[in-house]
Amino acid sequence: IDRITIPFLHRWKQDGRRIVMTTAYDAVAARIADPAVDIILVGDSVGNVCLGFENTLPVSVAMMNHHLEAVVRSKPRALLVADMPFLSFHVSVGETIRNAGGFLQRGAAAVKLEGGGKRIDMVRALVDCEIPVMGHLGLMPQSVNVMGGFKVQGRKADEALRLLDDAHRLQEAGCFALVLEGIPAELAARATDSLTIPTIGIGAGPYCSGQVLVFHDVLGLTEGHRPKFVRAYAEGFQQLHDALSRWAADVRCGAFPGPQESYRLPEGIGEAIAN
Ligand code: KIV
Ligand code: NA
Repeated sequence: IDRITIPFLHRWKQDGRRIVMTTAYDAVAARIADPAVDIILVGDSVGNVCLGFENTLPVSVAMMNHHLEAVVRSKPRALLVADMPFLSFHVSVGETIRNAGGFLQRGAAAVKLEGGGKRIDMVRALVDCEIPVMGHLGLMPQSVNVMGGFKVQGRKADEALRLLDDAHRLQEAGCFALVLEGIPAELAARATDSLTIPTIGIGAGPYCSGQVLVFHDVLGLTEGHRPKFVRAYAEGFQQLHDALSRWAADVRCGAFPGPQESYRLPEGIGEAIAN
């Protein structure tokens, strides 16, 4: 496969081959991730992971375009999905189509947006313009103010039933896949079994059609509190900090640069500049 496309994802769900997705916000991360994963998401999590914001709400379409363009330049083999940031798909159908269409014109293959019932008309409008849409239900970070924090969703029967209903409505509206975030494993399993489109879980247990984690979380590049659903496969932050500290120490004691990191004048020129 030289490029992963949406039909592969549907085949993989049928074949029981799990789908792997991570985020990338620049060309370096995309190159590190690309051979390993099936889907690269330029997530609005760039806001809190890279740009120092408290949450994803301040992320704009212009910021997303900037990061998306960097990822596109790495020419990933993975399916490239661009996240629709807060307010980019709420105001009007026209604005929504222009924002999403701009992502596709920059090289994304699909967009992702948060929300269920209230967003169905927007999803339909995008699908009608040949813009593939990935849904996102459960813990939706753009709803942090409504949720009162980042909390597991769908633990009450009515919430769980609403999520299943939303999932089916998104499938009917034409979503090609759904992210399920921060919900009980049994609820994600029920959604995955009852939908034909693949589900990609994050903090949603092992029964989804695939899994997504933020790049910086998988590599241990984030400082401090690690949520329960994260498994870090490297201690990136510590390892990179240690490496930079060793270099700084070598500079301070004169051990860097050495002869092998230095250029020399050709034979005979040394005398010419000596006085
Ligand atoms: O922005 C993001 O990183 C996401 C994933 C966690 C699904 O939406
Ligand atoms: Na996101």
